[in-house]
Amino acid sequence: MTTVVAVDGPAGSGKSSVSKAAARRLGFAYLDTGAAYRALAWHVAASGADASHASSVIDALESFDYSIGTDPDGYAVHVGGTDVTAAIREPRVSSVVSLIARVPEVRAHLTALFRSIIASTDRPGIIVEGRDITTVVAPDATVRILLTASEEARMARRSAELAGEKPADVGEQLKKRDQADSKVVDFMTAAEGVTTVDSTELDVEQTIQAVLDVITNSA
Ligand code: C5P
Repeated sequence: MTTVVAVDGPAGSGKSSVSKAAARRLGFAYLDTGAAYRALAWHVAASGADASHASSVIDALESFDYSIGTDPDGYAVHVGGTDVTAAIREPRVSSVVSLIARVPEVRAHLTALFRSIIASTDRPGIIVEGRDITTVVAPDATVRILLTASEEARMARRSAELAGEKPADVGEQLKKRDQADSKVVDFMTAAEGVTTVDSTELDVEQTIQAVLDVITNSA
């Protein structure tokens, strides 16, 4: 049976890099659900639709032809044949993604897609990371983890990732996105049965180890 590891957490908690590294070490597949929401936000912008209008977003969903890699080593995101792996990380995407993620039709559509990707993996396991994986997408996952870190630590990490941007702007954007997102799904408190890993005092390697420990102890 496939081991499904669900990892939720706020922006800047390190969940993408940690989940990807853990998947690589275990020989598991890796699914970044945030990348799918970002790809749709990119598609909405590219098609000239207004991300703040739910009906325009739902229309854009009809023509959303996307593929997301699940290999932690060769991970890429395409929309209609265009490689958007780098473009979906740009601030112009980050600043509108919460608008599309709050639309219930979008969440239902992507949740169904994530479940079919999880069901069809040919590896011994898959690590799936996002905001509602432990609660909505895969509440029956073998292992469920909430990866947290203090707001200061998360902002410092995101500023380091986005070198060239003003730290104050990065912090403000991150806070705004977390506030908007947490109105839709609760990823700040662990649901029942979910193990919290707090990475505030840990470096990346220690966080990967902490996550691997939770996986080996519960899988
Ligand atoms: O994880 P990342 O920060 O790349 O996610 C981008 C956005 O996608 C989040 O800010 C949130 O709006 C949305 N998202 C979501 N549910 C998920 C994953 C991401 O709503 N499971």
